[in-house]
Amino acid sequence: MLKDLLQRPIRTMRISVIDACNFRCTYCMPTDKYGANYKFLPKKQLLTFDEMVRLISIFTTLGVRKIKITGGEPLLRENICHFISSVSQIPQIEDISLTTNGYFLPRQAKNLKDAGLHRITISLDSLQQQNFQKIIGRKYSLDRVLQGIAAAEDAKLFPIKINVVVIKGYNDMEILNIVEYFKKKHYIVRFIEYMDVGNVNAWEMRHVVPSKQILQTIQEKYALVAHGLQYGEVASRYVHEDGEGEINFISSVTEPFCSSCVRARLSAEGKLYTCLFASKGHDVKSMLIKSDDDIRDYLSNIWQKRSDRYSEERSNTTKKNKVEMYHIGG
Ligand code: GTP
Ligand code: 5AD
Ligand code: SF4
Ligand code: SF4
Repeated sequence: MLKDLLQRPIRTMRISVIDACNFRCTYCMPTDKYGANYKFLPKKQLLTFDEMVRLISIFTTLGVRKIKITGGEPLLRENICHFISSVSQIPQIEDISLTTNGYFLPRQAKNLKDAGLHRITISLDSLQQQNFQKIIGRKYSLDRVLQGIAAAEDAKLFPIKINVVVIKGYNDMEILNIVEYFKKKHYIVRFIEYMDVGNVNAWEMRHVVPSKQILQTIQEKYALVAHGLQYGEVASRYVHEDGEGEINFISSVTEPFCSSCVRARLSAEGKLYTCLFASKGHDVKSMLIKSDDDIRDYLSNIWQKRSDRYSEERSNTTKKNKVEMYHIGG
């Protein structure tokens, strides 16, 4: 089996299908840097769906079994359902999920399910209209995202996961509210430690709320049963004792999980990143003129030489020149 220098296989491909987004989250695309005239990648520079499907097929020969579709906002990419339908026909792929801000789900959820999407994750950091707007940097209605989540439920895109990036002073006061709201629905709420991804977000260690602290806050009110962190996963799991859903923690800052990192990332313009915090990608797009065997050798060689473990090496300061989150979708 193909392994990298730290003995990690490759199991998951995270594919960013577009870099653009309709939100302007303060920690990802702050409005002062991503104004109305900001130019995202032109359409012709994006990998085509056929190119992506070809690459996924080659990656399956190296060990990939899970596909995560991301952006930017992946539902902004035209004909995304067509892509999902092609991916769902690749026999080796066991799991296809998509992470979205939820805004386009009211009209897309059913189509996504029909196309073959297995499950969905919605990013939602606040349940208070004003705070929601402050975090997403847009005057959109929170209800629209809640309707999107309801549409995902109607479409049976289970299990539904809700991603909550916790930032001190922004939304940490909402933690119990968020737990209560989604517990009733039996969803999986995932509290994510704010990470120093990219360079635009002025991340500082003091903005991070450690997962242990969040867990403590929740346990003062709710009984949880620990299920731990599985190899290859990012989240440690806690299940509500009464069976009403789950709370997960993604603790890349205080408890890094690099030793089981089985994820490769493909950006919308066709660069391969072997770490979320990488400075440079490998230009896979320029390899597309070669044969499948040549591309396979090229990718396999990259993986064999991989030794990334940024979160384990991170100190109180952050490194410079990291790729931005919206290029590789987290
Ligand atoms: P599933 O568990 O399969 O649903 O997907 P996921 O949790 O890996 O993906 P999602 O897009 O929901 O990401 C959740 C959070 O985990 C985001 O903040 C990601 O940036 C973060 N994340 C995902 N993979 C990694 C990783 O390899 N390293 C780090 N540091 N963070 C990651
Ligand atoms: N730290 C942690 N999570 C982040 N996300 C975006 N930026 C950050 C960050 N700096 C989350 C999004 C989305 C997922 C793909 O990554 O909210 O849920
Ligand atoms: Fe868009 Fe997600 Fe970035 Fe927010 S975090 S601006 S929803 S890509
Ligand atoms: Fe993988 Fe890099 Fe995240 Fe560590 S920091 S888990 S190596 S993507």
